[in-house]
Amino acid sequence: MKTKLLITLFLASFLSANELDGKKVFETYCWGCHHQTAVAFGPPFSEIAKKRSYEEIQAYIIDPKAMYKSFGYKRTAMTELKLNEDEREAVAKYILSYKGK
Ligand code: HEC
Repeated sequence: MKTKLLITLFLASFLSANELDGKKVFETYCWGCHHQTAVAFGPPFSEIAKKRSYEEIQAYIIDPKAMYKSFGYKRTAMTELKLNEDEREAVAKYILSYKGK
């Protein structure tokens, strides 16, 4: 009984630690179009971090089509990515860690 509980706790912490890895989310979903400090197809994370908030970054990931005008773009070429809330928060923090870099 106790062992089962410990295994469950271990798995839960392992999974949440995985989900919170923003670098991994970036490498999986964003790297084809964004790089950390260099311009790729999309703007670099250092550039985004300079002008956007945690909330704005997440809103853009959820729905680029609804956000691109208010972000000053004439059109959007960014794909809509189906990230879960944990992945979105983790990658938003990862982007903001490039502020000033
Ligand atoms: C298919 C290519 C592509 C992928 C994949 C992609 N992006 Fe983008 N992204 C763009 C382009 C191009 C722009 C520039 C504006 C536009 O076209 O919407 C952009 C813009 C953004 C912006 C707004 C930039 C600003 O002006 O502040 C954010 C935030 C962003 N991307 C985050 C992400 C994150 C996080 C991921 C991965 C989870 C991701 N993008 C994946 C191409 C992409």
